[in-house]
Amino acid sequence: MRKLLCILIFVSSASAFAQKFDGLAPTPPMGWNSWNTFAGNISEDLIKGVAHALASNGMQKAGYIYIVIDDCWEAMDRDSLGNIVADSKKFPSGLKALGEYLHVQGFKFGIHNCAGTRTCAGFPGGRGHEFQDARTYASWGIDYLKYDWCNHGTANAEETYRTMRDALHWAGRPVVFSLCEWGNNRPWLWAEPIGHLWRTTGDIRDCYDCQGVYDMGWKIILEKQVGLEKYAGPDHWNDPDMLEVGNKGLSLDESRAHFSLWCILAAPLIAGNDVRSMPDETRDILTNKEVIALDQDPLGKQGFQFMENPGKEIWAKELSNGEWAICLFNSGDNKMEIKIRWENLSFLKGKYRVRDLWKKKDIGTTDEDYASLIPPHSVVLMRLAPSK
Ligand code: GLA
Repeated sequence: MRKLLCILIFVSSASAFAQKFDGLAPTPPMGWNSWNTFAGNISEDLIKGVAHALASNGMQKAGYIYIVIDDCWEAMDRDSLGNIVADSKKFPSGLKALGEYLHVQGFKFGIHNCAGTRTCAGFPGGRGHEFQDARTYASWGIDYLKYDWCNHGTANAEETYRTMRDALHWAGRPVVFSLCEWGNNRPWLWAEPIGHLWRTTGDIRDCYDCQGVYDMGWKIILEKQVGLEKYAGPDHWNDPDMLEVGNKGLSLDESRAHFSLWCILAAPLIAGNDVRSMPDETRDILTNKEVIALDQDPLGKQGFQFMENPGKEIWAKELSNGEWAICLFNSGDNKMEIKIRWENLSFLKGKYRVRDLWKKKDIGTTDEDYASLIPPHSVVLMRLAPSK
């Protein structure tokens, strides 16, 4: 009886003192993930090739440091001791060696698994193995865990994700914990003490506004972010899903608008294209420092939709030092003139200098009204700095 009591006290105090690792994501995480382009077609060579590309094309320097292997890295079954193991055909040197390879080059190592019994692609999930898996991930040098929600049965989302958070805590290696629960149980209401980011919707697809059963274009995802801004901040970000910038279903204008608005949303910037072979125009979007700076602003405030009329939207994001980002978005299918009378933007105080971040040009001050003819599905993105 006394033994049972001791065990009960130990178990309840273990979870009472467990917490997420603080301070790992003061600004939204940036990196690359295999899923959007490669799905199950992944390998050690691919990941090494991606690391080489990020290091040589300016992306690592721009901040993309997490390299995340999504679904399908696992062998179909756990080993005889219940340990999760990597597919030895896809990853012949093993994941510990791959992690060391990435760390030496200054990257951080991310991996995907699932809170259910099986991942969405049918590989072993973590349910019932959370503490064992967390120790395995720590031994492989994992720095970032994306934890999916397929095959969860009747499990309670908050409890399930909290269990994995506790497991990561007790394994002792700091890990960014990315909840991929698709927004089903409104994680913005409960996930701040559990993870560093949480998905707010189903999956993104490389289209503007298509709508599937589980996936959709970035414009549809954008609409679902309205009102969520109050739940985000340093170490706890809304995640409107990974980037489709540069993928074949988007025009260059749509990729640029998608990237701009994800930066306004203070979204995690996880590239999902083939960075080994992208055209310069795509690289220029992903590495535009002034645009990334909006996303990574230390104030850590998610932007909000200030105005929406059919075909036109204005989004704004408060930045540190009294600065603001403003994004004019032509969401319609025709060219459209969008005008701004600055005095109508009620959150502005006084006069500002205005810079166009895609033209990389200072374009005047808020003393003059602004108007621009914007192509369909495109944006003008501006940074405003207080001026005397
Ligand atoms: C879910 C997630 C995706 C991806 C796939 C992998 O659909 O939402 O981001 O991880 O699983 O199977």
